[in-house]
Amino acid sequence: MEDINKISKTQLPEGRRDFLKNVVKITGIFTLFSSLSVIILSIFPSIIGEKKRSQRFALAVDSFPTDQEYLIGKVGDKNFVLFKDNTTFSAYNLQCTHAGCTTQWQPKTEQFYCACHNGIFDKNGKPISGPPNKPLEKLMLYTENSHIIIIE
Ligand code: FES
Repeated sequence: MEDINKISKTQLPEGRRDFLKNVVKITGIFTLFSSLSVIILSIFPSIIGEKKRSQRFALAVDSFPTDQEYLIGKVGDKNFVLFKDNTTFSAYNLQCTHAGCTTQWQPKTEQFYCACHNGIFDKNGKPISGPPNKPLEKLMLYTENSHIIIIE
């Protein structure tokens, strides 16, 4: 039985063999880099500029219910409560900082209550009972042209 290296050496001229070896190497390197780039971009999508665009919530100041001190809204994927205290506004993300459940604003006690593990936050989002140890996220807001703008 003849050695396959001897056959290929005898059947292919040396220049063509080197060319084929280089094609195989380049194809292997290209495949490796393609696979790595797909993995890296799936882990870090911001590398290609796929940043999440921030969402805005706008409400005319005049349309805030006069008989209420708060209202519930949503900006992007965040549910929030918007408080009105005379002429100032503040907003808190309703997502519990313990394990991500949605808290409920309870106006009678002036507390946020999370039913998942009985977490309680005060009106300023500070945890006061239960497992949460981080405050609720206070959302950025400002007024512009008589509108309250909340940014996700
Ligand atoms: S998720 Fe809110 S207390 Fe656990």
